[in-house]
Amino acid sequence: MLIAGNWKMHTDLSAAQVLARNVAAAVAERGAALDDVDLAVCPPFISLEAVRDELADTDVAVGAQNMHFADEGAYTGEVSAPMLHSVGCRYVILGHSERRQYFGEDDAGVNSKVQQAVDHKLIPIVCVGETKAQRDGGDAEAVVRTQVRGALKEVPIEGAEQLVVAYEPVWAIGTGDTATPEQAEAMHAFIEEVLAGLYGEEMAPDIEVLYGGSMKPHNARSLLEQPHIDGGLIGGASLRAEDFLGIADAAVTATKGPIA
Ligand code: PGA
Repeated sequence: MLIAGNWKMHTDLSAAQVLARNVAAAVAERGAALDDVDLAVCPPFISLEAVRDELADTDVAVGAQNMHFADEGAYTGEVSAPMLHSVGCRYVILGHSERRQYFGEDDAGVNSKVQQAVDHKLIPIVCVGETKAQRDGGDAEAVVRTQVRGALKEVPIEGAEQLVVAYEPVWAIGTGDTATPEQAEAMHAFIEEVLAGLYGEEMAPDIEVLYGGSMKPHNARSLLEQPHIDGGLIGGASLRAEDFLGIADAAVTATKGPIA
């Protein structure tokens, strides 16, 4: 189970340090209770190193929100995998719907970044998800299948731990309009089938597929206890340490089994 916070374009350096410090304190308070849940936060690039330092005494990993597909070069404004490595990143979010929507990212571009991340031993959190119009049109599965296959095309992985997928229905992101546990579970099971087609029946169940889209402390448990939902990618609720850890608490409860 992985709970990852996507801070998006929020927090300047000092706000990021305060938030990371609050996360560290809330994690310390919980002690061994969080042993079975992996935690990560993905702050803006400029705060990665400072956030890593604030979290140094915890098991909370740090990730970036985007990355370039080349090691280095004349790509003004971009950040590379080796650079992310040098500041201690373990994860990198790739193909987030906001990147696709506002910055023209497509499956082929996401694919080259995913390949680069895997080559550099960063764990890509590959985001996929349909729009409202696509769901209403009955195309949600076809869209998600195309995105998963496109992003992972010819990306060999040796083990399930090298890759994370996040199902984030675009209509649920930042809207408060969460997918129902049944809707999310159905798509997660479908994504596992697509992954099985790519990586085999044996590895696919071990590849973590996170749900993202208005996951909050109050709705997290019902989502996280679904058999094919392996964690959450959290936007808004990751900007308050207590909310973020409230979701981690829900993950702990969810791993103990369904509500009686
Ligand atoms: P949200 O964002 O939790 O604010 O809906 C999720 C995401 O975009 O990763």
